[in-house]
Amino acid sequence: MCGIVGYVGERDALPIILQSLKRIEYRGYDSAGIACITNNGIEVYKDKGKVDDVIEKINYLKSISSNTGMGHCRWATHGAPSKTNAHPHLDGEGGIAVVHNGIIENFQSLKEELLSLGCTFVSETDTEVIPHLINHCLKNSGDVEWELKEAVKETLSRLIGSYAIIVAAKGFDGLVAARKESPLIIGVGDRENFIASDVPAVLEQTNRVIYLDEGDLAVVKNDSVYIENGGAEVKRAERLIPWTIEDAEKGGYEHFMLKEIHEEPKAITDTLRGYLAGDEITLGIDLGIEGDTKGKSILMLACGTSYYAALCGKHIIENLAKVPVQLEFASEFNYSDFVLDGANVTVMAITQSGETADTLMALKKAKRYGCKTVAITNVVGSSATRIADETIYTGAGPEIGVAATKSFVAQLVIFYLLGLQKSLAKLPEAAFLEYLEELRRMPQIAQLVLDEANGNIQKQARYLSKYEHAFFVGRGVNLPIALEGALKLKEISYIHAEGYAAGELKHGPFALLTEDTPVVAIVTHQPFKKSLIKSATQASQNVYEKMLGNVKEIKARGAPVIAIAEEGDEEVEKYVDAVVRVPRTSAIFSPIPNTVALHLLAYWAAKERGCEIDKPRNLAKSVTVE
Ligand code: G6P
Repeated sequence: MCGIVGYVGERDALPIILQSLKRIEYRGYDSAGIACITNNGIEVYKDKGKVDDVIEKINYLKSISSNTGMGHCRWATHGAPSKTNAHPHLDGEGGIAVVHNGIIENFQSLKEELLSLGCTFVSETDTEVIPHLINHCLKNSGDVEWELKEAVKETLSRLIGSYAIIVAAKGFDGLVAARKESPLIIGVGDRENFIASDVPAVLEQTNRVIYLDEGDLAVVKNDSVYIENGGAEVKRAERLIPWTIEDAEKGGYEHFMLKEIHEEPKAITDTLRGYLAGDEITLGIDLGIEGDTKGKSILMLACGTSYYAALCGKHIIENLAKVPVQLEFASEFNYSDFVLDGANVTVMAITQSGETADTLMALKKAKRYGCKTVAITNVVGSSATRIADETIYTGAGPEIGVAATKSFVAQLVIFYLLGLQKSLAKLPEAAFLEYLEELRRMPQIAQLVLDEANGNIQKQARYLSKYEHAFFVGRGVNLPIALEGALKLKEISYIHAEGYAAGELKHGPFALLTEDTPVVAIVTHQPFKKSLIKSATQASQNVYEKMLGNVKEIKARGAPVIAIAEEGDEEVEKYVDAVVRVPRTSAIFSPIPNTVALHLLAYWAAKERGCEIDKPRNLAKSVTVE
């Protein structure tokens, strides 16, 4: 997984490329490089290291006079992070430069073929076969642009795998770009054009964006963008991106993650805004489970944080709409003999980026079963939206921190809307309206956690940060939130954290409980309003008592307990070492304040440990490889 950028225009290419690279370094940050076309040929600079460090070296070393160039930030897949494995890669004669995001699966056989033709390879990457192949496909016709385009096409026809590439060639004042299963956009400017893996890379320059489609090949010059697909010219619509560059920047916070946690109330508001008109929920799509839902069900497919959001969504939708929901990791679904009744199952792919390779593959597989498919994503025009029959967008705005935060709560909001929309036929109207009223309060509820619990959470995080192991436990609709809390803590603070169903601890993990394994317990399950108590199931009313029972069992094994509990719950204080207070809500909505609290807890613990919060080791924001 990597980030690629390109510039063609009348201005100095290098500073623009470096600035764009900084905006998408979250896509890969183990090495970086640039290539610029000059009067003398192609100048390349690349190195191992963080994008910032490489950029600093380039700024120090290079003053390149060029109006056309490209850049790359790498997240290694083939070959360790190193100067030679960094992109751009060149052909043997140094006349063609390529940056690539994706994986060329048949690179080994292509490499052998090229070696037998006399090519010399310098890197261990799969990418390096591309410039060599392009060189071999050139015909020396004299028409550099036409020839390069045709050579790239011929090369792409030989590649198996995924790619977004930008190609530059000596003597051509433009760039050729192409994509297959990896994202690529074109930023449209005034007598200049930009190419990038993602919108934030171009936002400083333009908000006019063309999303390239699967299989598109584009020839980008300063005054034109020509696109073809399958050998014929195609027109792709230009979209106006409503985000400002401030949206995509840190806005005064030390880390994107903290900024993004503080944007959780806004993410809820903006997501609701899109789909709530008065008391009417207007998701505006055919879910395939309209009318009589008998025999119908939903299968959710997702990875990582989105999987935990989906698990919470299962509880929400089953509780409110009484429609059965199944859930699978996309990566498991892809390689299992799943029994799926295409006519009666709606498949929902939950993916904030819309680009996760496993999830996209799962969507395609679901379509082969004949299922209705719905993508729930945060990125307009992303690959998932183009595969699925229908799309529901979350309104979280750009999320830069590798650890997903505001996109997670925005996904939860969609599940509340879906559940409530489908609950209409099943709930008394008064209960429906009370739920809706509570849903509308969620931005304030999230804000209250940020305003009132943050100080105490920092204190608890300082305490937690001294340990190497922790458990997060919950039940019911808050089990997924415990899993999310543990995932967040482990990925950014490197504390080993396990999320567990509270009732399952006694079946193994009890053996690990000591005074050195703090347990964070979510104890927020009290039914709230009278009318909602009536509609709440007996099971969910019992969860609070059961959680208290579990907390007592944990304490009896000597482990310290931090409870996430509601304002006014004095009972819980008797059994735990510390309490993080969150506002009262009815049980079904408690995941929202609990999530905000656990996201903050993970953030402050990681900060205390001096971790690289926005770019945790070995991870990437959007995983576009299987
Ligand atoms: C990566 C990210 C996670 C994210 C997961 C799924 O692992 O680091 O934060 O939850 O991918 O991403 P998606 O874009 O499909 O939600």
